[in-house]
Amino acid sequence: MSYQVELRERILELKRDRNAVILAHNYQKGEIQDIADMHGDSLALSRKAAETDADVIVFCGVHFMAESAAILSPDKTVLLPAPDAGCPLADMITADQLREWKKEHPGLSVVSYVNTSAAVKAESDICCTSSNAVKVVNSLPDNKILFCPDRNLGRYVQELTEKELVIWPGCCATHARLREDEVLKAKKEHPEALFVAHPECEPSVLKHADHITSTSGMFTYVKETGAEEYIIGTEMGILHGLKKENPGKTFILPSPALVCLNMKRITLPKLLTSLKEKVHVISVPEEIRKRAWIAVKRMIEIV
Ligand code: 13P
Repeated sequence: MSYQVELRERILELKRDRNAVILAHNYQKGEIQDIADMHGDSLALSRKAAETDADVIVFCGVHFMAESAAILSPDKTVLLPAPDAGCPLADMITADQLREWKKEHPGLSVVSYVNTSAAVKAESDICCTSSNAVKVVNSLPDNKILFCPDRNLGRYVQELTEKELVIWPGCCATHARLREDEVLKAKKEHPEALFVAHPECEPSVLKHADHITSTSGMFTYVKETGAEEYIIGTEMGILHGLKKENPGKTFILPSPALVCLNMKRITLPKLLTSLKEKVHVISVPEEIRKRAWIAVKRMIEIV
């Protein structure tokens, strides 16, 4: 038996023994997505974490995603196989900075992207993901809203809502690396291809998109449109699932820089160790968790 096959078998055996569920983000390495019970976007994975009856949730993603699972399911053990898998975007606003910002704009509600720490969520009225941000903003009675921390998602939402957003100037370094000239080059080389982009991309890139959506939204779009070729404006990990689920279609990554190294920190050996030794447990202090739970729960209730 090859090393890889043996690893997989041991992981699946431990998963059964521990009554664990393995959740993988769409940016994970192919072998991680393949062994997971499901792969999905931030919203789908949060929903799954909230409703699972497993005792252990092994979150193959980055820290804020595992934290969201711990916020929603405090009675479960949430494991992050690579404790150093962070999200630089989530680090772009701290709870202290948000408190100061709120003081500068008294009375305004706060919508926080899920790519934030639990402490920031605890200071927020409601969370959003890339798949429901417009709906979340429109669900609030307020006309003016604080939106953090992703400026590109904020600008994208601003174009689709009547409300006025005050936007925190953070961004995802991976998406921000995709340049307009790279997109134009890919479009020139593949004139028939549809360009689908994540709303974390820069406006100069988004203006060329045929469709802007979350990572799971990309799966739906590819399934529902008849094109043979797609230029994909998001992290390269998604190509694994797209190719697997759409064998007759071609997917083009317009830039080699669309790689999130944090997402790639999780490997099969780390997943095995995590299940075997029940490491690394992600938990949130109860006082923060209770307040963050309100913001996350309000978000997942919006359909
Ligand atoms: P999705 O919710 O679209 O999967 O996005 C998550 C993310 O972190 C994008 O960088």
